[in-house]
Amino acid sequence: MPVFTDPTRLLALTAFALLSALAGADDVDLAASCGECHALAAPAPGATAADARLSEQAPPLWYAGNKFRQEWLEVWLQHPQRIRPAGHVPARHTVSTDDGDQIDVESLPEHPAFPAGKAGQFAAALSRLRPHDALVEAEDYTPGSVAMRMGTMDFRRFKGCIGCHRDREETGGISGPELAGAWQRLQPEYLVSYIRDPRAWDPAAAMPPPGLNDRAIHNLVNYLRVIAEE
Ligand code: HEC
Ligand code: HEC
Repeated sequence: MPVFTDPTRLLALTAFALLSALAGADDVDLAASCGECHALAAPAPGATAADARLSEQAPPLWYAGNKFRQEWLEVWLQHPQRIRPAGHVPARHTVSTDDGDQIDVESLPEHPAFPAGKAGQFAAALSRLRPHDALVEAEDYTPGSVAMRMGTMDFRRFKGCIGCHRDREETGGISGPELAGAWQRLQPEYLVSYIRDPRAWDPAAAMPPPGLNDRAIHNLVNYLRVIAEE
């Protein structure tokens, strides 16, 4: 379903389309190909977080250039795989049963896939969307090591991230994106900065701010790297 019911978003999308056309963005038109589901412009200042999220069909892409690794984007757009086990808005894809909430897998859409050339162009165009350069530059993170056992205990038991995220295939909560592949998918500074303050990235972010210090955050990001390289 198109999400053009919100006039401010429509205006923002139109402005985005015009700017992209002026910049001659590699012959791909993100607004036309992706704008039906993804937000390509920041929400209007007046919009509340709840409004923004309820009108969304898919995760926001307006800060994609500060978030994703470009090489991951290029591969994923050719072979998309599910990142959010219960979809972008889990309430739309879960059913209550006697055994608790379960994912209604049938209701989860398949992502469109693109041939290599197009995927490369989309990845390049997304990588130019960098409204959050300042957040990235504010971080000072050098990858370090953490013992697997300590890292797992920290992520699962001490920090409680497992309640909403998977850190291994099929292990963990389903309301947040899976994080077993986070290191391959996401830029390290995004990981650090997002865990510090999700709402600095997206006013509609559904993750509560964990309130952690630098050291705790860096340890968690080191853990995401260690599990990715396992
Ligand atoms: C029909 C709706 C739809 C269209 C059209 C669409 N997407 Fe998506 N996209 C989604 C949904 C839903 C997800 C969430 C999938 C998941 O998390 O498993 C998603 C996820 C993504 C992600 C991962 C986002 C994240 O934060 O993890 C990227 C990148 C992406 N799409 C890029 C694109 C690009 C580029 C286009 C246009 C060429 C596009 N999409 C077109 C619905 C769509
Ligand atoms: C109450 C549930 C909840 C808890 C607890 C939680 N998160 Fe999240 N997290 C989310 C949701 C939901 C999102 C996606 C945000 C959105 O869609 O607005 C997210 C997003 C993220 C992202 C960005 C992933 C991406 O693909 O963009 C990272 C990284 C992350 N969380 C790490 C953590 C870490 C580390 C912890 C533990 C300190 C944690 N989260 C605790 C719900 C949670």
